[in-house]
Amino acid sequence: MEKKKNILTGIRPTGKLHLGHYFGAIINWTKLQDKYNTYIELADVQALTDNFHNPEKVRESVREVAIDLLSSGIDPKKSTIFVQSMIPEIAELTVFYSNMVTIARLYRNPTVKVEIKQKKNLFGKEGESVTYGFLGYPVSQAADITALEGELVPVGEDQLPLIEQCREIVRKFNSIYGQTLKEPQAYLSETPRIKGLDGNEKMGKSLNNAIFLSDNREIVSKKIMGAITDTNKIRKNDPGNPDNCMVYYYHNLVNKENLKTVNKECRAGSRGCVDCKKELIESMMNFLKPIQEKRKYYEEHSEIVDEILKTGTEKARIKAKEVMNRVRKNMMIDYFD
Ligand code: TRP
Repeated sequence: MEKKKNILTGIRPTGKLHLGHYFGAIINWTKLQDKYNTYIELADVQALTDNFHNPEKVRESVREVAIDLLSSGIDPKKSTIFVQSMIPEIAELTVFYSNMVTIARLYRNPTVKVEIKQKKNLFGKEGESVTYGFLGYPVSQAADITALEGELVPVGEDQLPLIEQCREIVRKFNSIYGQTLKEPQAYLSETPRIKGLDGNEKMGKSLNNAIFLSDNREIVSKKIMGAITDTNKIRKNDPGNPDNCMVYYYHNLVNKENLKTVNKECRAGSRGCVDCKKELIESMMNFLKPIQEKRKYYEEHSEIVDEILKTGTEKARIKAKEVMNRVRKNMMIDYFD
């Protein structure tokens, strides 16, 4: 029998998860876990690179993200969920990999470049106070991937430069110390990025345009009632264009059965935006219901979540130790047991 390939993906624990995570990533992972040996990393060390002043938030988010994942279809029997900081081999590898990367190359990484610009508050207008840890997070991410021998890395397009940088590190390492590490490949998700309630191309917590998997009816109602609709449809019976409407966009995600009717009635002017939003609220709550029921279960049984994280981390660590032994031997730093 052919050996199952390893999947390694990661997520920064900086808050609860929203529809963007669900439709953009998690759905994909729930399918992949049936076919591959899947590792999902809660990247708390990476989260700390720009949240080092806020350790409570990161710590809390590790649990919340774990609960969100377990509630939305990640099966701990199929996927190994683990906590990055509890695997010291990843930190160790990061140190050795840092010799394989120039500072200029890190500054040229397009993902890092964009993020430094976005974090003016943290790093100064020109990025003059960017930290060593932040600049180096692609090196640490290369360690995440290779410590678990990730072969396929399911990520969004914004992460491609990080995977490319990981591949470069692996090639350099192998060419100097001999074949040691597996070179990973990016695995682009089929699902597109999910837009925000305000029509922004990206749904994000910091953009304030997200519906969280844990939002209750009151919050969901408020958010949907404020969502952007076709600005040319002013009165209830004006015909509208669903293509310019975020409410229709979300009907397409959670109310597929009625999508044709919504489209037809909107275009005909026989559907007012308020009624249309109310229908979406119902569909959204129906969609969220099973996720939130599972969340409630895990919130009430926090010992189960602890156990899943502990077992997953132990399993991942065994793998990382194997890789680390090989790395030490080939780097000639295996002085004694
Ligand atoms: N950088 C990723 C993000 O911000 C999270 C991440 C950390 C990751 N380690 C990883 C993704 C390893 C893939 C593989 O979303």
